[in-house]
Amino acid sequence: MAQAASSQQVALSMADFERARRIIKERAGINLQASKQSMVQGRLARVLRDHHLADYGALLDAVQQPQSPLWQPFVNALTTNLTSFFREAYHFPMLADFLKAHQGPVRIWCSAASTGEEPWSIAMTAQETLGAHASVKIFASDIDTDVLRTAQAGVYPVASDKGLDEARRRRWFLKGSGQNAGLMRVRPELVRMVEFGQINLVHDALRFPQPFDVVFCRNVMIYFDTPTQREVLQRIHTCMRPGGLLFAGHSENFSAHGDLFALKGKTVYERLPDRTAKGAV
Ligand SMILES: C[S@@+](CC[C@H](N)C(=O)[O-])C[C@H]1O[C@@H](n2cnc3c(N)ncnc32)[C@H](O)[C@@H]1O
Repeated sequence: MAQAASSQQVALSMADFERARRIIKERAGINLQASKQSMVQGRLARVLRDHHLADYGALLDAVQQPQSPLWQPFVNALTTNLTSFFREAYHFPMLADFLKAHQGPVRIWCSAASTGEEPWSIAMTAQETLGAHASVKIFASDIDTDVLRTAQAGVYPVASDKGLDEARRRRWFLKGSGQNAGLMRVRPELVRMVEFGQINLVHDALRFPQPFDVVFCRNVMIYFDTPTQREVLQRIHTCMRPGGLLFAGHSENFSAHGDLFALKGKTVYERLPDRTAKGAV
């Protein structure tokens, strides 16, 4: 049995770093820059320690096996999950306007939901705009199962509520007491609006019962190269109804894909009709 090494002492060789880069790019689309070797070493060191592995080579050998139980810890370690409530706040009034104008139930996919602040912000916006009986369903997904657990639990340190004003914190969260002091929990009226699931945007089959009216895909495409971005946009396009809105991150620009999406506002795009379906231009 391999002797677990103290991960502090194990260096990630250039060859293993390149291997890790290749695997995560092929399977999750994530394009780790060549300058990130020490970051990757630090993140994977935790996986070595938690799984009692001797070195990075052993981890990478295991991850390359089909159905490896180490794949998920590997990908969880290599994702970057920075997020906050009402991040890129200018998007939420646009979402509210869309909801007001839309007739009937609305289906929203939050496709890189991280620890949940984004889908909960969408749910708050829906109820603040349409009231308690808002017919809005949100599906929140991510590739990373650790962040999804946090998202689904809906419990956050009160100190992390930087994107929330006090009125929203009081209206939408229950403040913990006793051993939960310092924590806040999302109120049940938001919980019932959101479902969670794991989806790899690059490879998983995207089978949904109905098309989405709105998709949030913010601050994840920056990790993908241009051909992968195009593939993911095509995949998202197939899951949306024409006229629906795609919200992108502040540094993501999809104007090269004007056959699929048209710019509607600051990093917000409208899903265009299928060209082939109508035999149009
Ligand atoms: C920087 S966070 C952005 C979170 C949120 N959308 C926001 O803008 O605040 C990027 C998220 O994308 C997820 N991610 C990375 N690659 C992915 C993939 N191939 N499929 C689905 N999610 C992915 C990561 O796990 C991470 O939680």
